[in-house]
Amino acid sequence: MTSLDALATPALLVDRARLDRNVASMASAMRGAGVALRPHFKTSKCLEVARRQLDQGAIGFTCSTPAEVRLLQDEGVGDLLWAHQPVGPAKVAFAIGALRRGGLTLGLDSVEVAAPLASGGVPVPFLLEVDTGLGRTGVDPDRAVETATRIASLPGFALRGVMTHEGHLGTYGDRTALEEAGTRAGELLASVAAKLRAAGLDCPIVSVGSTPGATSAPFAEGVTEARPGTYVYYDSGQVRLGSATPDRCAQTVLTRVVSTQRRGTAIVDAGIKAMSSDGLAGGSLGTVCDVAGRPLEDVLFANGNEEHGYLTGEGTARLRPGDLLRVIPNHACGTTNMWSRLHVVEDGRVVDRWPIRARH
Ligand SMILES: Cc1ncc(COP(=O)(O)O)c(C=O)c1O
Repeated sequence: MTSLDALATPALLVDRARLDRNVASMASAMRGAGVALRPHFKTSKCLEVARRQLDQGAIGFTCSTPAEVRLLQDEGVGDLLWAHQPVGPAKVAFAIGALRRGGLTLGLDSVEVAAPLASGGVPVPFLLEVDTGLGRTGVDPDRAVETATRIASLPGFALRGVMTHEGHLGTYGDRTALEEAGTRAGELLASVAAKLRAAGLDCPIVSVGSTPGATSAPFAEGVTEARPGTYVYYDSGQVRLGSATPDRCAQTVLTRVVSTQRRGTAIVDAGIKAMSSDGLAGGSLGTVCDVAGRPLEDVLFANGNEEHGYLTGEGTARLRPGDLLRVIPNHACGTTNMWSRLHVVEDGRVVDRWPIRARH
């Protein structure tokens, strides 16, 4: 066991008790609703975290990159959903190889993207991706029957259901309005599934996925699966959206004050290469906490260079070089991708180190 004071900073920490609580409570909520849980792996990229999710009943994982799919397939995890359009020769070749290994479903939104996969001569189970408001990938609901029918007619292709990422919920300032929009997204996806079935297509899976939507979309009538990712750690962004309270945030960056030359500012050794710059446009790189993890209301993480962070606010007057702080990132997934390993913390001491893999 190592004390936090002995760690070289910056360092990525995960609080084991908070992680376990987050994993267990999401699993229990989905179990209670009779909804399958397929968490997104991009948040942790860590097999030790994934095993905890599987132990609590996750049916498999959602992945965004080939590296994530490969890592989990190598680990023998079946029932993976690659929820990103496999476009370009390298991704098509990867998808065909990964499909051949079995246990993989693709998320697809057009015949154009699907057609090159037919050259592999392998079965292609797929979910039709539907846009329920984010405006990213996914067919418009009124084009779902036509698109699913055309993709399903390609040789080897088998429709397993529909999916959406209701990421537009991240733009809501009001939790009640967010939950209503989450329910609408789930209902819209279920109505698309009903239309596909009426057109004679098999559509057993109706899959929604997001952390802000995890208290609403999966509970809409007809939804069968939820794919939240960020919930394993939560983050300052999710606290702002009302998905969690700060005491649920399991991931923090440990940093030290390195300079206090200017009044009203303290400089720490965590910059955008420790935090990722996700959310900086919103005015902060994360929530500054004391070393015990209690948020410091009078200190703002106002800006960052690569390896320097700028803290401002009245509370910086208390800070001296050497002081340890912990920062709850704005976006846990972006922060994960900056690091090769994390330190597991229990009762304020480091009890383990886990590798983070499949990074860009
Ligand atoms: C396709 C898909 N499913 C699920 C998720 C998980 O959402 P969240 O990060 O809000 O947990 C994401 C997040 O980007 C996603 O893109």
